[in-house]
Order: sequence, then structure tokens, then C-alpha cells
Amino acid sequence: MLFSPVTIGSLELQNRLVRAACGERRADRDGFITHEMLAYIDELARGGCGLVILGHGYIRRDGRLTDNETGINRDDQVSRLGLVAEQIRAGGARGVIQISHGGAQCRPSVLETTPVSPSGVEVRKTKVIPRPLESDEILELVSDFAFAAGRAKEAGFDAVQIHAAHGYLISQFLSPATNLRTDEWGGSPENRFRFLDSVIRAVREQVGEDYPVLVKQNLDDCIPKGIPLSEALTVATGLSDLGVAAIEVSGGMVDSERGAARKDITPGKQEAYFRSMAREVVKVVDCPVILVGGLKSPSVINDVLESGDADLVALARPLIREPRLPLEWLDGRDTPADCESCNRCALYKDRPLRCESLILEQEQARED
Ligand SMILES: Cc1cc2nc3c(=O)[nH]c(=O)nc-3n(C[C@H](O)[C@H](O)[C@H](O)COP(=O)(O)O)c2cc1C
Repeated sequence: MLFSPVTIGSLELQNRLVRAACGERRADRDGFITHEMLAYIDELARGGCGLVILGHGYIRRDGRLTDNETGINRDDQVSRLGLVAEQIRAGGARGVIQISHGGAQCRPSVLETTPVSPSGVEVRKTKVIPRPLESDEILELVSDFAFAAGRAKEAGFDAVQIHAAHGYLISQFLSPATNLRTDEWGGSPENRFRFLDSVIRAVREQVGEDYPVLVKQNLDDCIPKGIPLSEALTVATGLSDLGVAAIEVSGGMVDSERGAARKDITPGKQEAYFRSMAREVVKVVDCPVILVGGLKSPSVINDVLESGDADLVALARPLIREPRLPLEWLDGRDTPADCESCNRCALYKDRPLRCESLILEQEQARED
């Protein structure tokens, strides 16, 4: 089932395996794509995934997470972004870029200013107390998302993904734990959804009706007083009604004990930790659902797909270690990914994304 074709929006994919967005951390200091980034993506594009989603592309400079994050905030970035889009297609996959704003989870040391958010709720892990956004700034941000989506289309990506998960800006608007506003952007579930709703409508105006727009959404913030499942399901229904091409089901924020990328997941029962929520989303939406989080065995993945709990599955960390894993599975390998979910790949935010464990193992082998 994993290697059967599927359609999302107007996009036909050769299989149901997605490379989940994962900040590649290979852009230059102005967010431009580098040769190093092209080489990295080339390997992934040839690795056998049907869809490759590039990690965080910042829609505004003051929404970036690192100084090596990909930018999609300037028109002059489009031609180099186009090289990546081309490369993904040449490798046999379809290419998507994720557009994002880090909100309160940005680091003041990177931004050299105070991060913004719907309200001034502290990010406990980083001790950042964000500056609450003014109403006119919120409208500007809606336009910034739309312009970024327009650049994605112009660059030749097959689709764009709006990052509304993991406690970044849009997720902060959706969550009752981080959105304490009492104006039209907060207070009720409808008001908390208004920012994402406005972003999608503005993006749609920019890219047209047929261009596929995907959304990555938290079904569980994995923090006290986070978004209730019932409300997250209403958001998912709203997204489906807005005509999004696919919803990627995820969860967690920087402050979560166990969030999006859980540690030490062993093959088998611990895999697919957002599966039960994906199953609920499938029941209330008309668009395909992508499940992400801890997937590593072909048997579990096929079971998820065959049971109908999701239409596609996305992998992030396993492909950092083994970018050709999908091809190997296609060639008959039946063992799980080698990734041990140690999360060393997430430790060094200013270094290019790579499997740090693999590097350590290789260094060790050279010394022995
Ligand atoms: C180092 C690292 C970088 C990540 N960057 C992004 C990102 O840019 N955008 C995003 O939506 N998720 C990001 N994620 C989360 C992954 O897409 C995914 O949701 C999570 O790792 C769970 O999937 P996995 O178990 O297959 O790794 C990142 C995760 C890691 C470990």
C-alpha cells in the first residue's frame, strides 16, 4: 500500500511516503539557498519519497529560528528556490516548501529583538516573554504568508505547506494556552482560528484555486491547557471546508515534555504516536490526511495505511540518517529505519541538519 500512488489536490504522487518538513539549516545568512543545500536535497529527492517537504521557510526575517534557515521573504530568493524545486522533480519526487513564522519560539539572540506572539505568554523552556502583536501587525503577517506562498508557486514548487503546528506563530494563535487575546483574534475557538483562516484565504488569493495548499496542524499541543481535541477537530474541518489539499497531523510545542519529535521510539507499539488523532481527523475531513511522528517500520506504516487511519505517512528523522530508506524498502528491505530517535539532530541549531549519531559512529569506527 505504501508504494501505491495517491492524489492530493491536483497533485499526483508516485507513493504515500512523505519527507516531513525538517529545517535543513543550509541557507546563507540572508536565507538564500546554497550549493550545500542543493546537494543535500538532491540525495533526498532521489531517495524514493513521493513528496518532499522542505523545512521552515521564514516568511519574515523577524520570524526566523536560525541564521541558516531558508528564507522565502524576498522576491530575489525565488530563482535559487527554483533550483531546489527543479532538483526535487528531477529526483522523481514532488516538491513542497513549508512557510512559517517562529513567533514566541524564535530566539532573541538570533533576531536581535523581542519575538512576537498573539499574547505575552512566556515560553518556559527559553524564558522568552514575547511582545503581543498589534492588530495592524497581524494583518501584515497575513499578507506576508500570502506573498511567501506566491514566491513558492513562482519558484516552481508543486505545493506549499502552511506550518500551523508545533507552537510556532499560527499554532500560538490556535492554542488557548498561548492566545489570551480578547479582541477578534482570540477569546473563542472561532476567534483563535481567525488568523489561520485569514492566512489560507489570503494565500488562496495569491496562488489561485488550483494550487495545492497543505497545512501541518497540532491535534494536541501536549502542554497543560493546550488545544482540546474537539476544538482541533473543528479546525481540521474548517481547513477541509477551505479546500486545503492535505492536513498533516502532528502535535507538541517547544514547552512540551513529549512533543512532535519524541525520543527513544522503539520499533513497534511506540511508533505512530499521533495515529489515534489522525483516525479522528479522517472522520471529519474530505481531504487526505498525512500522519507524522515516530514511524519507522514498513509493517506499521502499511498497517496505518491499510486501516485507513491516514492516507499518507511522513518521516523526518529516519530520512536524516537514511535518505535512501524508501528505495531500500521498495527493493525489499523489511527492517525498520536505523534511526533511534536520539534527537541529537535537533541539538545543534546553528549547524547543518545531519544525523549526529551517524557522524559519531563513523568517527568511532575510524579511531578503532
Ligand atoms: C531536527 C528537526 C528539525 C525539524 N524541523 C521541522 C520543520 O522545519 N518543520 C516542521 O513542521 N517540523 C519539523 N520537525 C518535526 C518533524 O517534521 C516531525 O514532525 C517530527 O520529527 C516527528 O517525525 P519523525 O518521528 O519521523 O522524526 C523537525 C524535527 C527535527 C528532529
